[in-house]
Amino acid sequence: MATKFYPVADKSEFSDNDQLHVSLNDEEILLCREEEDYFAISYYCSHATLSLEGGYIYKSKIICPYHGAEFCLKTGNALTPPAYEEIKKYPLSIEGTTISIGVEEN
Ligand code: FES
Repeated sequence: MATKFYPVADKSEFSDNDQLHVSLNDEEILLCREEEDYFAISYYCSHATLSLEGGYIYKSKIICPYHGAEFCLKTGNALTPPAYEEIKKYPLSIEGTTISIGVEEN
C-alpha cells in the first residue's frame, strides 16, 4: 500500500474552525481547520456512524454534534464516551496554499 495525496482545497477557502466534507476513493473525510492547524479525519463518528461535520472544535479536539463524544484531531483517539473506538486520521500535505489529503492505495 502506498499513500497518494490528492489536492482538495485551498487555504484561502478556509476560515478559522471551518470544515469541509471530502470524498476520496470511497472514503468520507472531514477536513478541519483550527487556527493555523489543519486536520483530516473520518467524516463519521465511531459511536453511531453519524456525521462529525459541524462538531465544535477546540484545543485540537472535535466534539460530535450528536451525543457529545470527543475525538483528538491529531490522533483520531476517542477521548470521552459514548465513543470508545478511534476514528481514522489522514495525513495532510500543504504546499503553498494547496491542501492535499493522503489516502492509501494498492
Ligand atoms: S454519533 Fe457521535 S457520539 Fe453518538
